[in-house]
Amino acid sequence: MTGGERAPAAPLRTIRLELVPLDPEADAGPLHRAYGDEAVMRWWTRPACADAGETRRYLTECAGLPGARLWTVRSSDGPGRGDVLGLAGLLGAVDVPGLTWLLRRDAWGHGYAREAARAVADHALGPLGLDRVEAWVEAANHRSRAVAAAAGLGERARLGQRYPHREHPHEVIVLGRAREEEPTAVLGTVVELPVRDVAGTLRLVTAALGARTTFAMGDPPYLAEVGLSPWSGGPRFRLAAMDPEEPPSPVLLHLDAATRLDALHRAAADAGAPVSGPPVLRPWGRREFVITLEEGHELTLSGPG
Ligand SMILES: CC(C)(COP(=O)(O)OP(=O)(O)OC[C@H]1O[C@@H](n2cnc3c(N)ncnc32)[C@H](O)[C@@H]1OP(=O)(O)O)[C@@H](O)C(=O)NCCC(=O)NCCS
Repeated sequence: MTGGERAPAAPLRTIRLELVPLDPEADAGPLHRAYGDEAVMRWWTRPACADAGETRRYLTECAGLPGARLWTVRSSDGPGRGDVLGLAGLLGAVDVPGLTWLLRRDAWGHGYAREAARAVADHALGPLGLDRVEAWVEAANHRSRAVAAAAGLGERARLGQRYPHREHPHEVIVLGRAREEEPTAVLGTVVELPVRDVAGTLRLVTAALGARTTFAMGDPPYLAEVGLSPWSGGPRFRLAAMDPEEPPSPVLLHLDAATRLDALHRAAADAGAPVSGPPVLRPWGRREFVITLEEGHELTLSGPG
C-alpha cells in the first residue's frame, strides 16, 4: 500500500505534544524560527529561508506534494501551550513514505522530536495502513539519528548524495521501520569477473580502489574476492580465472563511490590503473570515471553530481 493520498491529516496527541495539521499560511510565521535558522537548516536539502514569505512558499510546496502529511509540533501543556515548536510528518512525492522532522533551536534537548517522530511513525504504520516508512539522515547528523532510533527506525542502506547548495557530497543513512518485519529476501549480489591473471588483477584493483582482499583460493589464486568496505559484508566483487581458450566476455560493473570520488580517481591513477580521465558529470546527474581492465571489463566509479 502507498497510503491514501487524498485524506487530510488528522491531529495527533502525545504525552506532551499536540500535532496539528500544517496550515502553511498561518504556521509559516512561527515555523520561520526554524526554517530561517542556519543552525537548524545545516542538514536540510536547501539553505535557510530568507524570510517568513519564503518559508510559507516552501511549506506550501512541500504540503502540496502527493502523499504529503505534515503536522506542526506544539506544546500541549505549561505556559507555552500551543506554541509551534517545529514540524513533523510524511514527505510527499517519494517512493517509500519518508518521515521528516525539525524543531526550532530553543526546543532541542527535551525529547520533543522523538516523541513527535514516534507518533507520526505509529500513525503511518497504524491508522494510515502504510507498510513501511523511512528517513534519510546524513551520517554526521547524530541528533537526527537518535530521533530515528527512538521512533523505531533501523539502518537499511547507505547512499551518497549531493545538495546543490553544498560544496561537498555527503553520506546518507536510509533508516526504516516496517509494519510487519520480514527477512529481506536477498541481502546482496556479488559479481564475478573472469580474468586471465587473478593475482595481478587483484593487486591492481585493490591498490586502485583502496580495497582489500577478503579471500583468495589457490596459489596462485584462481578465485578471489575484492572487499570495498573495511567492514564485513560490505560491497564486494570477485575475480575468477577464465578459461584461456575462451575469448573474454567483458562485464560492466557500476560502483557507487558515495563521497570520495576525486580521492578514488587520484588513487586509481597513482596505482597505474587504466583510468578514463578525471570524473565527468553524466546527463543522469552522476560524476563518473571508468577503469578498464585488460579483458575489457569496465569498472565505473560513480559519485553524486
Ligand atoms: C533533529 C532534531 C529535531 C533533534 O532535536 P533533539 O532535541 O536532539 O531531539 P529530541 O527532541 O528527541 O531530544 C533529545 C534530547 O532531549 C533529551 N531529553 C530531555 N528530556 C527528555 C525526555 N523527556 N524524553 C526524551 N529525551 C529527553 C535527550 O536526553 C536528548 O538529549 P541530548 O541532546 O543531550 O542527547 C533537531 O536537532 C533539529 O531540528 N535538527 C535540524 C533538522 C534536522 O536535522 N532534521 C532531520 C533531517 S533528516
